[in-house]
Amino acid sequence: MTQLPFSQACENNKEPILGVLRRVFADRSRVLEIASGTAQHATWFAQQLPHVCWQPSEMPANLAIARPRCEEYSGDNLSAPVALDVSQRPWPIEALPDALFTANSLHIMPWESVQDLFAELAGRAAKETLLVVYGPFNYAGRYTSESNARFDQWLAEQNESSAIRDFERVDELAREAGFELLEDNPMPANNRLLVWRRN
Ligand SMILES: C[S@@+](CC[C@H](N)C(=O)[O-])C[C@H]1O[C@@H](n2cnc3c(N)ncnc32)[C@H](O)[C@@H]1O
Repeated sequence: MTQLPFSQACENNKEPILGVLRRVFADRSRVLEIASGTAQHATWFAQQLPHVCWQPSEMPANLAIARPRCEEYSGDNLSAPVALDVSQRPWPIEALPDALFTANSLHIMPWESVQDLFAELAGRAAKETLLVVYGPFNYAGRYTSESNARFDQWLAEQNESSAIRDFERVDELAREAGFELLEDNPMPANNRLLVWRRN
């Protein structure tokens, strides 16, 4: 058997994230996941939330990482991953679903791409659309832990446009895009799970 792309972080965080998604996605029917990576989240959440049709996506260059795990999924509520670079607008997605999810992506993509993501949602997300974002954030200009400070240093060494984002700046983008923050859930390893809803 060939080895599937694997992220230990996904294994560690998928249960805590699921605990929140079970509640906030209880009345959702379709989820677009941005930056699906190995698709460990996509396949796990699709399996655990059978009422939801899960649409994974990835940057064109990384789509091949997401595909193999999705191909092994046996249920019928997971679509094949589609190419989506949030900075390439308009997105090649016909109708946005009633929920979007992304994990550990806002600190990887450049800030301009984070702005593009919210600009696209401002123009296209329907009223009541949920946006759920998992990852590390700074608050009041401060790291929430020593390990996040070290992680940010490491990120900067990998790519100068990657960085832990300020919660307040992201929330401002969300508000400008017509989204209201509903929840800010603490997660293990100094991460957060943020939930916004389109007004
Ligand atoms: C650290 S990985 C996270 C992957 C997965 N969500 C997870 O939790 O393991 C960051 C992902 O962001 C994706 N990404 C970076 N820039 C992007 C962009 N402009 N549009 C969409 N995805 C992007 C990368 O391709 C990569 O898969």
